[in-house]
Formats: sequence, structure tokens, C-alpha cells
Amino acid sequence: MGMLSVSIMPVDFGRLDEEIKTIEHTGVDGIHADIMDGCFVPNITFGPDILRAVKKATSLPIHAHLMIHDPDRMLKEFADAGADWLCVHVESNVHLSRTIQHIRELDRKAAIVLNPATPLESIEYLLHDVDMVIIMTVNPGFSGQKLISSVIPKISRLREKIDNLKLPVLIGVDGGVHRDTIGELAAAGADVFVSGSEIFSDNNLEDNVKHLKEQIAALTRKKK
Ligand code: DX5
Ligand code: ZN
Repeated sequence: MGMLSVSIMPVDFGRLDEEIKTIEHTGVDGIHADIMDGCFVPNITFGPDILRAVKKATSLPIHAHLMIHDPDRMLKEFADAGADWLCVHVESNVHLSRTIQHIRELDRKAAIVLNPATPLESIEYLLHDVDMVIIMTVNPGFSGQKLISSVIPKISRLREKIDNLKLPVLIGVDGGVHRDTIGELAAAGADVFVSGSEIFSDNNLEDNVKHLKEQIAALTRKKK
């Protein structure tokens, strides 16, 4: 069955503890922490210290989505700060298989992330070594962008490859995941749905999560 991971970019960081606890109570499956360095992407968010505060507030698994240059040099800091998953971009890495190896040595789950323009061929050789592949469905950097639907065939092709190889690798989708786009993403074969702005669009956090989770449960069950 599919999972919903909440991107915490839109939270009020002045009330971080409270906000994270509220999210946890809605019944989501994970926390997605968008780490941006102002260099790999044109925006800056937060680093290991804030992640440590997030970790303190929740027992949910945390994905650290590292939108930073040369993530290798920061993997240990983010692992120590509480990341259960380290998600690294193909485009930010020169020696991606070495980075995955490093994540394994830190005893964390490994995910590789592909920007919309990056072809699947760039990661095929690593499919046996990772726990998840995240397909970016927007160009990374900002919350609240519109899903680029021309990326969807890439999800279907990845689903086919993973199924043919009978690998236990999850497919994540990140960016523009809304109640009106989740159907096509689930049909293409996604397992993990990262959503931010839709969930925080009003004060009905609980209802928004419930709605998305119901859709994910129905759509991903249908698929299997
Ligand atoms: C984009 C981030 C996403 C994004 C998700 O750079 O990686 O995680 O903020 O948020 P929404 O759901 O608003 O697209
Ligand atoms: Zn993200």
C-alpha cells in the first residue's frame, strides 16, 4: 500500500515542535525534510540543527531530501541529526555509487532523486543498491509548484523496470502532488507520495491528510 510523506517546507518554523506534533497526529506515514543550500537550487531552507529539532518532536521516519551540492560531505551530519532516509540527487553527485555506499555505512536508507530532465538511464546501474528512487515532478526549489505531467511516463517506465527485476525498491514522487494529480501518479506506479502545499493550504490539516491517504489507499490497492 502507498505512503504519504509530508513536506514540512510550509510549516511555521517559529512553532516547529507544535507543528510537527500536529502533523504526526494526522496519521501521515513520514516527514519529508527539504534541505536546500541556495546553490544546487535557488532557495535556502535549513540544516542539521533544525532537523535535530524535528527529530525530537516526532517518531515518524524522516526523509532528508538533500538539495545540496556535493552531499557526501554532509551525510554524517544529517544522519546524526536524525535522518532515517538520506535522499541524494543524481545531478549533485560525481560519484553516486560511492555516495550510496557511504549512506549504507551510516546504516541509513538510501534514496536517489532525479530531476525532471534527468533520464532513468543515469541510475539504472544503481537499482540493486537503493531503497527508493524519487522522481521529481517539479523542478526542485519551491513548494506549491504545478506538477510537470510530461514526467509521468518516466514513473511508468521505472515501475516496469523495478517489477521486471523483482526488486523491493520504492518509487517516490515529489512536487505538485495534490488530490487531483495523485490518481495519475498512482496509476503510473508510485508508492510514496510527498505532499506539502496541498496539506497546509488551509487550517484543515487533518481533513487534507485524510483525503490524500484515502485516495492513496484506494488507488494503490487497486493497482496491486
Ligand atoms: C521541491 C521539494 C518538494 C516540495 C513539495 O523542491 O522537494 O518536497 O516542496 O511540496 P508541494 O507539495 O507543495 O509541491
Ligand atoms: Zn522534496
